Amino acid sequence: MKAQFFGMPIWRENVDSKSYNKKEIIDTITRNYRKNRSRDSLWSTTSNVHHMYGDWDNTDYESPDWDNSLVGLYRGVLQRFFDSISAQKFNFDFEVANYTCYGNSQYIQEHLHPKTDFVGIHYIRFDTESHTPTRFVNPMSYAKYLEDIRSETRLKYDDNDISNAWMFPNWEPEIIEDDMIIHPALLAHDVRPQICNDDNLRISSVININAYNTSVE
Ligand SMILES: [Fe+2]
Repeated sequence: MKAQFFGMPIWRENVDSKSYNKKEIIDTITRNYRKNRSRDSLWSTTSNVHHMYGDWDNTDYESPDWDNSLVGLYRGVLQRFFDSISAQKFNFDFEVANYTCYGNSQYIQEHLHPKTDFVGIHYIRFDTESHTPTRFVNPMSYAKYLEDIRSETRLKYDDNDISNAWMFPNWEPEIIEDDMIIHPALLAHDVRPQICNDDNLRISSVININAYNTSVE
């Protein structure tokens, strides 16, 4: 289902966990994590997370079998998202660009995805009691001053209603395990340090999505 936050679209859909090789994917990523909880060849000075971006060819680790059934599932989710967008005729492609795996105290720095149009995040393993979702930064120019703007008297907006996101410096959408979200790639986001046991890993896949205008001859 599509919602709006900060004037931008965000799609959220719960993926059927029985329709893909979920256990195999989790087991593969967990085995990789046990080898090195901070596998990170790109962001190691600013983040602490186990991920595979920029490290695809490293034979010390196994590659999760996305192609078995997940890629087809993702295509369906993306099609439903794009069906909700009004635009001239277009098509899209996508790739599973990364996975991330967080144990206790692990986090990822604020960043955006400059080389793609939309980003999909599939929360393959997510414990609502101890894990936190992706946190999006309010892109409005006033957002950094919100604490100083009539902070004593202004409305106490309900922080469970995503349509109120515009009045908060950042926003974590409500997430449960198996949710997939799609957000604009130019919207900056991070993940706060997780407070969880290393036996209770937070695992997600990251999908880069491009859309192409096909009406141009
Ligand atoms: Fe990201």
